[in-house]
Amino acid sequence: MSDAIIRLENVSYRYPDGTAALTDCSLTINRNKRTAVLGANGAGKTTMFLHLNGILQPSSGRLFRDDIPFEYSRTGLRKLRSKVGMVFQNPDSQLFSASVQEDVSFGPMNLGLDTTTIRRRVAEALGAVAMAGLADKPVHNLSYGQKKRVCIAGVLAMEPEVIILDEPMAGLDAAMQEELTAVLERLHAGGITIVIATHDLDFAYGWADQALVMQSGGLLAHGTPEDILLRPEVGNALGTIPQIAEIIHSLSLLGIDLRGNGYLPRTRNELVAAIAAVTTREDTP
Ligand SMILES: Nc1ncnc2c1ncn2[C@@H]1O[C@H](COP(=O)(O)OP(=O)(O)OP(=O)(O)O)[C@@H](O)[C@H]1O
Ligand SMILES: [Mg+2]
Repeated sequence: MSDAIIRLENVSYRYPDGTAALTDCSLTINRNKRTAVLGANGAGKTTMFLHLNGILQPSSGRLFRDDIPFEYSRTGLRKLRSKVGMVFQNPDSQLFSASVQEDVSFGPMNLGLDTTTIRRRVAEALGAVAMAGLADKPVHNLSYGQKKRVCIAGVLAMEPEVIILDEPMAGLDAAMQEELTAVLERLHAGGITIVIATHDLDFAYGWADQALVMQSGGLLAHGTPEDILLRPEVGNALGTIPQIAEIIHSLSLLGIDLRGNGYLPRTRNELVAAIAAVTTREDTP
């Protein structure tokens, strides 16, 4: 099977008011990879996401699923949306049922699954986001972070192959962000392809296997975070570079090379460990 689980080929999209939100956008989401989608406000990230699961249809260009051109039939769209789950930025635009349990059951019920399977999937999905204890709680009484988890559970209950999350960390406190990162790690380890739009460059740098940088409705750059996030044109488009990359660069100007065993640190913990290793080396007579 090809690595490309979803691909956009020369996709352009205009909103009904005439805004050209995507212009000749071509990009690939690779199977079982952690992909970060970056780009300034208005670059087209959300619009692109809405194409990945068929909520929007290209004005021109094509969507491919497993290298097969996608047909926008009713059955095709149903299947696409069950396999490519999307978690919206604002949980209130996604939740609509009275209780947590009802909301998470909605997707599997629509798939026409039997009651036992639905119960199992809902219980597993709520367990995965640590919300099992709040299954009967009214959705409108949940905190923002809890609502966000319920949205993720709703997508998990569909047992998708790909999960797309639009700014999942926005509005979450540090502990919730850490927990969500752990949930995403478990899903990724279980073979799910994860795509996240984020403005948090440090998170993207530490988390992603591949990064896609969007600009003015098209793809500006793609590659591993360490390969592309230091390119000047990418720095200009995003307005900044990851802090860790900046620290590594500053240290290199002082003659301190953190590249041990060919690896550059990508997370704060790795950075601290690399600095400690270099310091120890230099202290050793
Ligand atoms: N419903 C809509 N109708 C008209 N124009 C829209 C609509 N939604 C988005 N746009 C426009 O499309 C362009 C791309 O917007 P989009 O929301 O995809 O950007 P984004 O990269 O997700 O930005 P952000 O980082 O702010 O979330 C923008 O110019 C925006 O104004
Ligand atoms: Mg957006």
